[in-house]
Amino acid sequence: MYSRPLRRAVGLGAATLGGGAVAWCAADDDGSGSGNWMFPARVRVSALPSSSSSSGSCSGDGSSTTPAVPGSATNLLSAIGNTPLVELPSLSRATGCRILAKCEHLNPGGSIKDRAALWIIEQAEKDGALAPGGTVVEATGGNTGIGLALVAAAKGYKSIFTMPASVAQEKIDTMKNAGARVILTPGVPFSDARHYFHVAAKLAHHNEIQGYFFANQFENGANARAHFESTAPEIWQQAGPSGVDGFVCSAGTGGTIGGITAFLKRVNPGCQCWVVDPEGSGIGPYVASGGTNATLGPSPSSALTHYAGDKVVHYVARSPGSTITEGIGNDRITANFGAAMAAGLDGALLATDREAVEMAYHLLQKEGLCVGPSAALNVVGAVKLARKLGPGKTVVTVLCDGGERYRSKLWNAEWLRQKGLVPREHTPEVVEGALFVGL
Ligand SMILES: Cc1ncc(COP(=O)(O)O)c(C=O)c1O
Repeated sequence: MYSRPLRRAVGLGAATLGGGAVAWCAADDDGSGSGNWMFPARVRVSALPSSSSSSGSCSGDGSSTTPAVPGSATNLLSAIGNTPLVELPSLSRATGCRILAKCEHLNPGGSIKDRAALWIIEQAEKDGALAPGGTVVEATGGNTGIGLALVAAAKGYKSIFTMPASVAQEKIDTMKNAGARVILTPGVPFSDARHYFHVAAKLAHHNEIQGYFFANQFENGANARAHFESTAPEIWQQAGPSGVDGFVCSAGTGGTIGGITAFLKRVNPGCQCWVVDPEGSGIGPYVASGGTNATLGPSPSSALTHYAGDKVVHYVARSPGSTITEGIGNDRITANFGAAMAAGLDGALLATDREAVEMAYHLLQKEGLCVGPSAALNVVGAVKLARKLGPGKTVVTVLCDGGERYRSKLWNAEWLRQKGLVPREHTPEVVEGALFVGL
C-alpha cells in the first residue's frame, strides 16, 4: 500500500494540461470566478440531472431531449446514467462498513465510459468540433470505443478507434459490429510513436478522414465533467442521509476519479477519496510522492502528435510488475487525473491481480455480480479503504464494466491457469475471514 501523505499536485493546471481541449471548462456557472479550471463553481445536489447529458452536460442551448416523465428513457442516450447503487452485504459484514457499488456495467454500452462518450460528443457538437456526417476518432482500451460507437451510431456519426492488440476480442467485436473501423496497435510505451494514442492523434491530424473529431478522452475535460455532473451527484443522493465517508476507484484516463473526487470534496470536504492502482502503473507512486515525481516531457513523440496536451507530458515511473486488468493504470499524468489531484485526492492503494481475480469470483458467487477485472480491483480498493477508515463508515466504489466481455480472459479457467491466477475456492469461512485478512 502507498501511504505517504499527499500534497496538491504541482505544475498541473489548465495552462499546461488542458490546452484547447479544456478551455471551455474554465467558465463558472454563477460568474463568480470561484470554480476551478474544469468544474463549475456551484454543485447542485438536490436537482440531479436526468439520465441523459442532453439535459445534464450540455444544457443551455435549448436542444435538451429531457424525457417528459423523469426517469423514463426516450432513446439510447437518455438511458445513460442513473445506474443503481447497491450494497455488497458480504463485504459490509467483513469490514463493519457499508460497502456500496455503483453498477456502471448496467449502462447501455455496458460500462461507465458511456457517460464520458456522451459528454465528449455533446460538448464537441456544442463547440462545433463535430458536425453532421463527421467521424469520431479515439484511442481507447475498448470501453470508451464502445460508448463512442453507440453514441455516434445513435447520432449518425462514423467512428474509428485505435487500441492495443491485447484488448479483449469481445470488445473489439462489439465496436466493429457497431460499424466502427478498428485499428490495432502493438503494446508499446507511450513514448513510442506506434502507441495507440499517437496513432489516433496522427490520424486525426492528417485529416485522412474528412470531418474527423479527436475525442481525446485523456485530456478532454468533458470526460471528468461527465462524472462531476452525473455519476457523483447520483452517488451522493443514492447513498442517503448518512452520506459518503470514502470513495475509491482506479484510474485510466482519470475521468472517473477526477470528476467524482471534485464533487465529493465539494459537498463533503471530509470525504476520503483514494485511487486504487494495479501493479505496473505509475499513478500510485505519483500520488504517494505528493504529485512530485512526474518528469516533464516533451514527449519523445511530440513531433508526431498534434494536440495541445502533448506538448507538455508529465511522465511517471511505473511500479514493478504488470496487470491483467484493462483500461486502468498509466505512466503519465493526464488532465483528467490532474483534476483529482487538484481536488485533494487523499492517497493511493495498491491492489494485485490475484486480489482482483479473487474478488471477481467472490462477487459473482456471493453477491451475484458478474463484473470485469477493473471493477473487481475497485472493490478490493473499497475493502482496503474501509479497513483504513474503520467500522461504521460508508465506502463507495464503481463497477466499471461487466464480466461478459472478459469471457476469454477473467472468466476462462484455462486462461487463468496460464496466468497462475486460478482463484481459491470460496467457502463462507474464507469470505468472512481469511480472504480479506491480507487486504
Ligand atoms: C474497464 C475500465 N475500467 C476502468 C477504466 C478507467 O476509467 P477512467 O478512464 O475514467 O479513469 C476504464 C477506462 O477506459 C475502463 O475501460
